[in-house]
Amino acid sequence: MDTRNDIALAISAATGMDAAELLSYIEIPPDSSMGDYAFPCFRLAKAMRKAPAAIAAELKDKLALPACITRAEVAGGYLNFFEDRAGAAAATIMRVLNEGENYGHSSEGQGKNVCVEFSSINIAKPFHIGHLPSTAIGNSLNRIYKALGYNTIAINHLGDWGTQFGKMIVAYKKWGGGKPIEESTVRELVKLYVRFHEEAEKDESLNDEARAWFRKIEQGDAEAVDLWQRMKTLTLKEVGEVYKLLGVEFDSYNGESFYEDKMQAVIDELDAKGLLKTDKGAKIVDLSEYNMPPCIIVKSDGATLYATRDLAAAIYRKNTYDFVKSIYVVAYQQNLHFQQLKKILELMGFEWAKDIIHVPFGLVSLEEGTMSTREGRVVFLEDVLNRAIDETRDIIKEKGVATDNIEETAKQVGIGAVVFNELSNNRIKDYVFSWKKVLDFNGETGPYVQYTYARAASILRNAGEELTAKAASGKVDPKYITSPSAYELAKLIYKFPQVVVEAGEKYEPSIVTRHIVDLAQSFNRFYHDEHILVDNEEEKVAKLALVIAAKTAIKNGLALLGMQAPERM
Ligand code: ARG
Repeated sequence: MDTRNDIALAISAATGMDAAELLSYIEIPPDSSMGDYAFPCFRLAKAMRKAPAAIAAELKDKLALPACITRAEVAGGYLNFFEDRAGAAAATIMRVLNEGENYGHSSEGQGKNVCVEFSSINIAKPFHIGHLPSTAIGNSLNRIYKALGYNTIAINHLGDWGTQFGKMIVAYKKWGGGKPIEESTVRELVKLYVRFHEEAEKDESLNDEARAWFRKIEQGDAEAVDLWQRMKTLTLKEVGEVYKLLGVEFDSYNGESFYEDKMQAVIDELDAKGLLKTDKGAKIVDLSEYNMPPCIIVKSDGATLYATRDLAAAIYRKNTYDFVKSIYVVAYQQNLHFQQLKKILELMGFEWAKDIIHVPFGLVSLEEGTMSTREGRVVFLEDVLNRAIDETRDIIKEKGVATDNIEETAKQVGIGAVVFNELSNNRIKDYVFSWKKVLDFNGETGPYVQYTYARAASILRNAGEELTAKAASGKVDPKYITSPSAYELAKLIYKFPQVVVEAGEKYEPSIVTRHIVDLAQSFNRFYHDEHILVDNEEEKVAKLALVIAAKTAIKNGLALLGMQAPERM
């Protein structure tokens, strides 16, 4: 059923090595004239104490080729395998038709929990373009891990604690004009915040007032807590709209404030384990032995910090969800913070510290320079999404697309364009947000892939229900799908489940993105090279089956990125 697996079993039988390990070595060469599968023999060089080329030659002689392989050839240190292409394409099609929307999924993670923390916005602050990477990457990783069979817990670790809320309250009371918070917008709150910083430049005492108000929140003062809570409610309502547009959902919104009453226990435990030092009145964990600056746990005035809350959060998540992995999708500027966090958990003796996984990503900057909330230079994510929808709507109208629901299509494609762009590059790369690039509907973009999907849908509509149903049953004659472009397409479809596994292992959704671009391009070559709706019905049905399989793989891939697949476009 699975060719790679069959090859691994054959090599295992010949060498006595573990088949699962061998399986992980088998590659699919980019150029199929080199073979359809390749086994890099240098992997065995150490164990067999021989040169890779000699191993390849020896393996070739010893190996009982699996039925799906027609021949094997030695090329340098590789043993290359050539398969029965018609049979392979047919087997792939059959598998996709059977598995449908589960194609590409697996049960690797069954019964295991994975926490995926992402987006983690700050209350009463703009939800801006800089939050797009964490939101899109995290949403995709959450979907990828779910597809791999894990039970995931999507967490939005809200930034809802700290002196900035004291500043917000001072600004709101002084300049808010008595307008109830629920009637304002986050933008208005941000303006007040910006004003606070301007005024505080001139009047130092404002900062003292702000500290006093935050202290009141900490102490549970009714008015202070009420104002803070209402700002939180307002922010969550607004960001909720954006999450809805993006198809993002969370299982938990436990943010920094949630850990307020859970930190003392952690501080006590650190103390009991002899990890706390006093330094100028502050309590710190000394990490100099590990070439890291000290991590401050409690400031000299008794205040706790971001890091203190993260320690409490990590332990809480372990106790609550018993995760096998706890993923944090947070910008690389916080690399040091997460290294410290992990090290401290390790020093506390938690064996699971190794399962804390920081997934960093690069900076988004604007063409006009870096963003600054305080200076009011930000691009709201909501504006980006709405503009993408508007421009897409214009294009759809211009092209006169026959869609029953322009609004819905504009949403799917416009938002898809932004998300796909975000997930196209290796996540660690810094990039400049450019409207031109995001909305380039030609090229390797979301709209291109979605358009390819819609084209496949349209081919099936033109073929009619009866023939589509016949093709979907999978009873096809493989001899009609052996052309180079048909085989290449089938091969990319075949590879999709491996791509999902790799993206999960590397915490890298762009691996899926790139693969579905390849799939779409390959589908378009097939469409261009071959006449699909030919007169010969058997041939037509066989090709339609390949169209269905490609369409399914593209849809499943888009879903892993958090994107929709429009049937008409
Ligand atoms: N709210 C933080 C920020 O905007 C990110 C939080 C990251 N998550 C964490 N557990 N520290 O920078």
